[in-house]
Amino acid sequence: MSATSQLDWQHPWVIANWKMNPASQAATQQLLADLAQQAAPNAINVVLAPSFIHLAQTQQCLAEGQLSFGLAAQNLCAQSAETGAFTGEVSAAQLADMGVRFVLIGHSERRAYFGEDHGVLANKITHAFAKDLTVIFCVGETAEQYEAGTTQAVIAEQLSLLQDLVIANERLVVAYEPVWAIGTGKVPTVAEVDAVHGFIKATLANYAPHLANTPVLYGGSVKGDNAQEFAKSPNVSGVLVGGASLQADSFYQIIHAFGQK
Ligand code: PGA
Repeated sequence: MSATSQLDWQHPWVIANWKMNPASQAATQQLLADLAQQAAPNAINVVLAPSFIHLAQTQQCLAEGQLSFGLAAQNLCAQSAETGAFTGEVSAAQLADMGVRFVLIGHSERRAYFGEDHGVLANKITHAFAKDLTVIFCVGETAEQYEAGTTQAVIAEQLSLLQDLVIANERLVVAYEPVWAIGTGKVPTVAEVDAVHGFIKATLANYAPHLANTPVLYGGSVKGDNAQEFAKSPNVSGVLVGGASLQADSFYQIIHAFGQK
């Protein structure tokens, strides 16, 4: 998928969340060069979400055609979609202007470390849609909530803010990321993921029938050696990958697992 090509929503999705990595521009350039050494299958949507400081060099690499991936931001300003006196922030308009087409919203690290609640997340989603960005909305339960058996209730509550925001909007991807699986090496069973994804799809369909087609991705310790299992599940439309997206080889292993889907 090129930065400018049409999305095929039915194709599997593999999205790299680089978080606050790599440490330098040189290391980012090396990762981009390593990614450019290999090719992804055609029928797949691959998206990179670098940190803000590495967006420009990643965008340049995409614009030069070295990689035909989409570009995502990991965050955007909740206060304004445009410009203004919001020190340290980056707006939806600024992101859209530089070719960013996707944005992560609701990641558990943003919720936990930056106190992002429903109000903040709703503003971010509104601004993203106002600038035609596709929202990758992340949901997931903590270990305590998982052990208490409240996963579906937690996810229903997290999804509920979408109800009024997305009815007329199809630029939505949902990522189910159990907090206890992120960066831990622990993963739920494919059957557990399947059940939660079914629940997410049913909940969205209840908001508006067309939302039943929303891609629902799994995230949390996805690696080259477990991606194949997730790819087999019909309810898993793709994956959001943190750690394993920082090495071209492991990232391509995951891409190829979903490329066969
Ligand atoms: P992980 O992160 O693959 O390193 O577990 C996933 C995420 O937080 O999106």
